[in-house]
Amino acid sequence: MHLLTLKDWSAKQIEDVIELSIQIKKNQSQYRTSLKDKSLAMIFQKTSTRTRVSFEVAMTQLGGHAVFLDWRTTNFILADIRDETRYLSRNVDCMMARLLRNVDLKAMAEASMVPVINGCAEKYHPCQAISDLMTIKEKKGRLKGLKLIYVGIHNNVCNSLIEGCTKMGMGITTVVPLVNEPSLDKELIEKAKQTGLYKTTLDVKEAVKKSDVVYTDTWVDMESFLNPKFKEEKEKRIKLMKPYQINGALLKGSDALIMHDMPIHRGYEISEDAIESPNSIIYDQSENRLHSSKGILLKLLEKA
Ligand code: CP
Repeated sequence: MHLLTLKDWSAKQIEDVIELSIQIKKNQSQYRTSLKDKSLAMIFQKTSTRTRVSFEVAMTQLGGHAVFLDWRTTNFILADIRDETRYLSRNVDCMMARLLRNVDLKAMAEASMVPVINGCAEKYHPCQAISDLMTIKEKKGRLKGLKLIYVGIHNNVCNSLIEGCTKMGMGITTVVPLVNEPSLDKELIEKAKQTGLYKTTLDVKEAVKKSDVVYTDTWVDMESFLNPKFKEEKEKRIKLMKPYQINGALLKGSDALIMHDMPIHRGYEISEDAIESPNSIIYDQSENRLHSSKGILLKLLEKA
């Protein structure tokens, strides 16, 4: 079993990993040796703070070990991904990869003898969505019947939230003036529409009024953020998206929880006052990446 996208996981599997992550967080000492003598390979083609730290600390706290591999300093950079993966999976018990292309992640999963976890490629970020749903469940005591709005660029995080929310019986409305083209998954959108739980609108004020959770993310993906070739597109996006910033004025009269998966670009997709608002659960959400990484590892390694 792999975790490449929540499309591959049933509602029951997602619910189980959320519950397990909550239990692990409450009873951390009970899990100190759950992954004794187990190793996780972590392969990164892109930058990361939370995904790297949460999986590495999770392995240590579960009694196992994580090996960090920067794509550029390994032979993944010059060899066939299938060969390097076949070798690697003979040495470790699980792999987590943050790759540029979902197609490479799939090739890795096909070649691997051990579970592969998607640490965020251009199409999906399932680990983030699991952590987000865990956080909402902790705060609200339930998921079913709640309404989340996602305001920003339709990207990998948005796809995984749509999949996760609809499978958990939550309403999700997207306010997305632009779709990040590489993230496009028409099949996911069509299926979500059929649930009756997914909607899209550009009326952000109206959407906020009806929401229990307001969620936003960066307007520019990490791989493009500092790329000089993306400068013009970045400026275009800032101009287009500025009216959709999550801020105090937009949230006036709303008691919705405020979420952001980080890294944050203060003053762009979200203002200082929204980040520091009493309704902001951004730092609990990011802390939960650790607890949910443990839940994901234990589930995939059948140690739950
Ligand atoms: N949200 C998230 O995946 O954080 P990193 O990019 O820092 O890993």
